[in-house]
Formats: sequence, structure tokens, C-alpha cells
Amino acid sequence: DDEADLVGRPPVVTIMGHVDHGKTTLLDYIRKSRVAEGEFGGITQHIGAYQVEVGGKKITFLDTPGHEAFTAMRARGAQLTDIVIIVVAADDGVMPQTKEAVDHALAAGVPIVVAINKIDKEGADPERIKGEMSELGLMPEEWGGDTVYCNISAKKGIGIEELLETLTVVAELADLKANPKRYAYGSVVEGRLDKGRGPVATLLVQNGTLRAGDPIVVGTAFGRVRQMLGDHGKELKEAGPSTPVEITGLNDVPVAGDKFMAFETEKMARHVGEERQKAKQEQDRGVSSAMSLDDLFN
Ligand code: GTP
Ligand code: NA
Ligand code: MG
Repeated sequence: DDEADLVGRPPVVTIMGHVDHGKTTLLDYIRKSRVAEGEFGGITQHIGAYQVEVGGKKITFLDTPGHEAFTAMRARGAQLTDIVIIVVAADDGVMPQTKEAVDHALAAGVPIVVAINKIDKEGADPERIKGEMSELGLMPEEWGGDTVYCNISAKKGIGIEELLETLTVVAELADLKANPKRYAYGSVVEGRLDKGRGPVATLLVQNGTLRAGDPIVVGTAFGRVRQMLGDHGKELKEAGPSTPVEITGLNDVPVAGDKFMAFETEKMARHVGEERQKAKQEQDRGVSSAMSLDDLFN
């Protein structure tokens, strides 16, 4: 990328934690308190990916399920994120998927903010949670460490503004950049088959600008971006870095964590898509191919 083309982009924040510690409730609360009534609809209804504005600055949020079947998704989530919020329920404490989320975030080397949730509940003990999290290497600032903690109630809306302000400060320090002039690439947040619309993919544009009509390879699927919806369900003509979008126009359903890339011509997209399909089939058969899947995107 040409240095001169790099501009600031919103942070991508992933919410992780143990089952039922309140990740989705937190996302829902932030969305409801930030998004004007009547703007609901579209992908926010069924997937956890959207943008909000805090003090004039955008933040992109992604949800992850706490269930242990979703380990791979959390690992990928940690990789496509700039900041991880670890949600820990104050009445429950550090649990297996909390530890796993911390491991993923530390391995990804991204800043971690700990949200101690459910402080409205009887038996909530934030100090005990800080002790348990310190044992995982996340010592609170007020104890001489460098991890920021926020006490929140996602249900009652306590402490959420402070959490959002913390995120803007952490994002500022990270000084995130992208090049909106290049062809888009990024990751799949979710893929599904819609009876009427065919394969539907929720994508996070990580760099570049994705445009309606762009030839595209998503995982091993390919096609052209037929329709592109933003997180409020409105049709978009283009989407810049850190934007979650929902697209149709693919010949197959991609899976969460797959990578995507837009191309100049449909011929190129088809070629790369078919080569990736072959590489994937060989990989599945245990044959080591000359090219890895990701080589085909480089
Ligand atoms: P998974 O996606 O299944 O891993 O769960 P999750 O982490 O998304 O938790 P979810 O938001 O579904 O919340 C689980 C339960 O905890 C729900 O019944 C919520 O209403 C409740 N809950 C979430 N946050 C709070 C809170 O701050 N206070 C109280 N009292 N209950 C909460
Ligand atoms: Na839940
Ligand atoms: Mg959830």
C-alpha cells in the first residue's frame, strides 16, 4: 500500500467470554442506546456485527458465542479484531471459556478490556473477579497492572458509557489505518442459505472498499456482489474499512472465518475461486498441494 493512501479506520471490537456471561445483552444494550429507533432491521436482527458512533467516532462490534463448540470462531475472532472485551459475570467468575478467550486475545496480541458484568446482581463480587483475572495475567491498572476494567450491568445499562469511552481511548492509542483505495479484503462473520436470496454472507471489510457489483471470492465461493446491505439493513453502494456488510451473489455459502477478496474482473475472481476450491478439496483429502488456500489470495 502507498503510505499516502492510508487513512484512519474504526476499531473492530470483539466481545468474548463464557456462556451466558452477557455478551449479547451488552451488544444489544449498546445498539439500542446508540441506534435511533426505527433504524432497526437488516443484519443486526440476526447477527452480532454493527457499528455505532461514540463522540463522533465509529466503533465496529462483533459478537462471539460462548459455547465450547465455537472455539475456532473465537480464535478467528481474536485475529480479526483490534480490541477484545472479555465479559465476566460478577456473580460467576472466571470459567473455561473466559480462560480460552483470554488465551486467544493474548495470542493475537491485541489490547484487552475486561468488563465485569452483572454487577446489579446479588452476590456480585468485582474484586474477586479482578483477583481471578490477575492470575491469568490481566492485572488491573488500579493494582499496578496495565489492564483496564469496567464494572457494568449490560441489563440495566450501568457503566456502559465508561466502557465505550475506554474503547475510544484504547483505539486512539492503536492508531489504526487502512487504504480505502484498494480492492477490498476481509473476513466472513457468518454465512447462510436464504430460501429467496440464495447464499448470504456477512462480511467484515478489513481493508479497501467493497462496492456493489465487485467480482469477489469468499472462501471457496465466488461471484459478484449483487446486493450489499449495511448493518441497519439499508442498501449500500460501497463499504470502507471496518464496515460489516451483508452480501448476496455468491455461488456457495461461506463459513465464519473464511477470507474474502474483491477483484478487478469476474474472470480473475472465477479463476481464484476455482483454484481455491481445488486446493480446499486437496486439503480435505489430506493431499498437500503446491499452493495453500491463502497463497491464492496473495
Ligand atoms: P452465549 O452467547 O450463549 O455465550 O451467552 P451471552 O454471553 O451472550 O449471554 P446473554 O447476553 O445471552 O445473557 C445470558 C443471561 O444473562 C440472560 O438471561 C441475560 O438477561 C442475563 N444478563 C446479561 N447481562 C446481565 C446483567 O448485567 N445483569 C443481570 N442481572 N443479568 C444479565
Ligand atoms: Na446466552
Ligand atoms: Mg450470546
